[in-house]
Amino acid sequence: MTKVLLSIHVLAAIIAVGPVTVAASMFPALARRGDARALRLLHRICTVYATIGVAVPVFGLATATSLGVLGDAWLLTSIGLTMVAAALLGLVILPRQKGLLDQAGPDPRLGMLTGVFNLLWAVVVVLMIVRPGSTTGA
Ligand code: HEM
Repeated sequence: MTKVLLSIHVLAAIIAVGPVTVAASMFPALARRGDARALRLLHRICTVYATIGVAVPVFGLATATSLGVLGDAWLLTSIGLTMVAAALLGLVILPRQKGLLDQAGPDPRLGMLTGVFNLLWAVVVVLMIVRPGSTTGA
């Protein structure tokens, strides 16, 4: 059962977080060029895949429960970082993108914020794989 949950968790991370990372990274450059159609498409990709991405923490928590590692420090850190990244996307990046759809113009901080968002995923993935301090598994 754990293997099924973990597979869905990793699959969801690849399918949902991947496209959001790429689309969000491309957004600031296209916003500078004022390509309204492309901006709408990228924003839509970010919104739709962010919604699908809810499956990542859901199946992550299910996997952690099944493994009995819910209290582990590496996992609690990952949960915290995932929440920060999700809040950054939902409360800051997506609204700022939406703002640029309606009135074109540069948003100097959007690129930086998106970079921070991408970095957070990278840290979480490394934590998921290295699991520092964990005594279960390699
Ligand atoms: C609430 C957030 C999350 C929870 C509770 C969670 C939980 C877990 C658990 C329990 C495992 C199994 C570790 C093991 O085999 O012992 C795992 C593996 C994994 N998770 Fe997460 N996760 C979360 C977020 C994420 C995110 C945001 C990503 C990617 C963007 C991610 C990517 C992965 C990957 C790639 C693995 C496979 C690592 C491996 O087995 O070597 N997880 N996760």
